[in-house]
Amino acid sequence: MTKIGIIGGSGLYEIKGLTIKRRKNIKTPFGKPSGEYLIGQIGNVEVIFLPRHGSRHNIPPHMINFRANIHGFKKLGVERIISVSAVGGIKKGFKPGDIVVLDQIIDMTKNRKPTFYDGQDGVVHIDFTEPYCPEMRQIILKAGKLANIPLKNGGTYVAVEGPRLETSAEIRAFGILGSDVVGMTGMPEASLARELEICYSGISVVANYAAGITKNKLTTKEVIEEMKASTEKIKRLLEKIFAILPEHRKCLCKETLEEAKI
Ligand code: HPA
Repeated sequence: MTKIGIIGGSGLYEIKGLTIKRRKNIKTPFGKPSGEYLIGQIGNVEVIFLPRHGSRHNIPPHMINFRANIHGFKKLGVERIISVSAVGGIKKGFKPGDIVVLDQIIDMTKNRKPTFYDGQDGVVHIDFTEPYCPEMRQIILKAGKLANIPLKNGGTYVAVEGPRLETSAEIRAFGILGSDVVGMTGMPEASLARELEICYSGISVVANYAAGITKNKLTTKEVIEEMKASTEKIKRLLEKIFAILPEHRKCLCKETLEEAKI
């Protein structure tokens, strides 16, 4: 059966409609994942869910063990991951409530373990020209059309270290660099998945205008409320994705390590 991993962000701590058949604690050489992997089935797809901040939202972005989370999915046999996250909107056209199928990343994180390959297995440089699996992006966009859920096709995600929010000058600078949305968890999650040849895709819900875009003070409350308001749509979108997911992958993600090692 096709297995798909879902990483839930702020406000998404469960998938309604997913009857949990098993809960798995996974040990990895990189330490502990954010919590138990919740395993169930929707249609013909085995769905494995992990809330990246923990089921009670007690792990801040800079403390997430991204390597353990992704390695755990690999151990469970997952070939594709959909990451759901909350973001702040930087550019015009990325307003609260919008759902974005991300296509690019700018990594501004500072203090995270960015790789599985520290030299023991040779030196590895993966291709990351297109950080999100192009095949998964097309499947998500198609599911959006079929489910009548408007999606933005493409957006550049700037990943910041957090946990503080940004200054207005930082947001201005990120905008000039080409960022559309800002979040704290997209990296190194995406590149770690690629390093293990897992297809990775990102669906972001714009939860707030980024710092300085409006005069309002940013609050965590508004982020969580906006995410909750979008949960129903995200759930319907995921269900449609599961329904149309082809069994086999045709993209190049599965061949990442060919010609990547020195
Ligand atoms: N900045 C960083 N991360 C975020 C934001 C933001 O404005 N909103 C949701 N996650």
